[in-house]
Amino acid sequence: MLTSMKSKFDTLFNTQPEVAAFTPGRINLIGEHTDYNGGYVFPAAIELGTYGLASKRNDRKICLYSNNFESTGTIEFSLDELQFDAAHSWANYPKGMVKYLKELDYKIDTGFNILIEGNIPNGASLSSSASIEILMGWLLKSLFNLEVDRLELIHLGRKVENHFIGVNSGIMDQFIVGMGRKDQAILLDTATLDYHYVPTEFGDYVISIMNTNKRRELAESKYNERLEECQKALALLQHELEVDALGHIDAATFEKYAYLIKDNVLLRRARHAITENARVKKAYDALNRKDFIEFGKLLNASHASLKEDYEVTGIELDTLAETAQQVEGVLGARMTGAGFAGCAIALVHKDRIKNLEQEVTENYTKKIGYEPSFYHVNIGDGVKSLDIKEG
Ligand code: GLA
Repeated sequence: MLTSMKSKFDTLFNTQPEVAAFTPGRINLIGEHTDYNGGYVFPAAIELGTYGLASKRNDRKICLYSNNFESTGTIEFSLDELQFDAAHSWANYPKGMVKYLKELDYKIDTGFNILIEGNIPNGASLSSSASIEILMGWLLKSLFNLEVDRLELIHLGRKVENHFIGVNSGIMDQFIVGMGRKDQAILLDTATLDYHYVPTEFGDYVISIMNTNKRRELAESKYNERLEECQKALALLQHELEVDALGHIDAATFEKYAYLIKDNVLLRRARHAITENARVKKAYDALNRKDFIEFGKLLNASHASLKEDYEVTGIELDTLAETAQQVEGVLGARMTGAGFAGCAIALVHKDRIKNLEQEVTENYTKKIGYEPSFYHVNIGDGVKSLDIKEG
């Protein structure tokens, strides 16, 4: 990848890159829509991701090019004009990172050239945007010797989503892209940011990623709507409970005080956030005991809750996950990421992968009208520098 990117860099910018880096995408094993509710998440970085090359310029221009959006060409703007611009499409993620780094007085004193190329399928809910944010932060750190650490880049990436792009997401995606480790998932408490690594050893089973291939539409506004619903439900519970997040309420306490939420929609949203949080802890215990059957059941229960209570699945994700759940050798399946479209994951016996793909493809195509895609990728590292001299 780097060899062809280096020659493209030369052609585009008429100079050699000085630094190179890679950032992964991610899957979330379980713990969906819990991160902005102060709950637990259980994501893992994957070996699909985004590669980037960068060099400094002598002027104050920022020139960005993505091999994934060739028709857009080079996007140019000044280091001194860093406001959101819809016409700059994907480049708003990098632009937001530069803006927030500068606001913190990190010394980015010249313009720069950047070429990126990613192999995370677009719009697949595998965190291509967090991957670009953290990549940008890391390239700038390397290029300008900034003393910014991973955690700060993670916070800045989230700030870009929340305040620059306008999606009120939690911290899960940036955290795992920044902190991921090969063959390990991270159990993260999003309220305290306490975390620890958990080996992703599933014995004879592997995680299969299944893509609906449906473009996400209006996902951002629905995402923000869910956050508001959770906040409303929390405010009602706070009439009796002294808590500052749904993630701090256990299932039994919720049952006792659920009467405070008269609105059925709000009640279901809160129930998802609270039961899902409990499922993450159970899934973590199950994985520690190597009880993959229990782990699979929790995946199925998570999907059902995201479908019925949280209503973020849709016919495409339901067809993928529910068909997969019926396939022999599959212990569990659920949507992963924000939902509405994108990907689902299945825990499948390594000898049954082909069956899973065949059965799901057949049923999905019959019902939806086009085929899903499948990926079998390793769990990989978080952001890392690459040796610019290597091919
Ligand atoms: C998106 C957001 C995350 C998280 C998930 C749902 O990926 O970026 O913060 O909320 O959706 O779990």
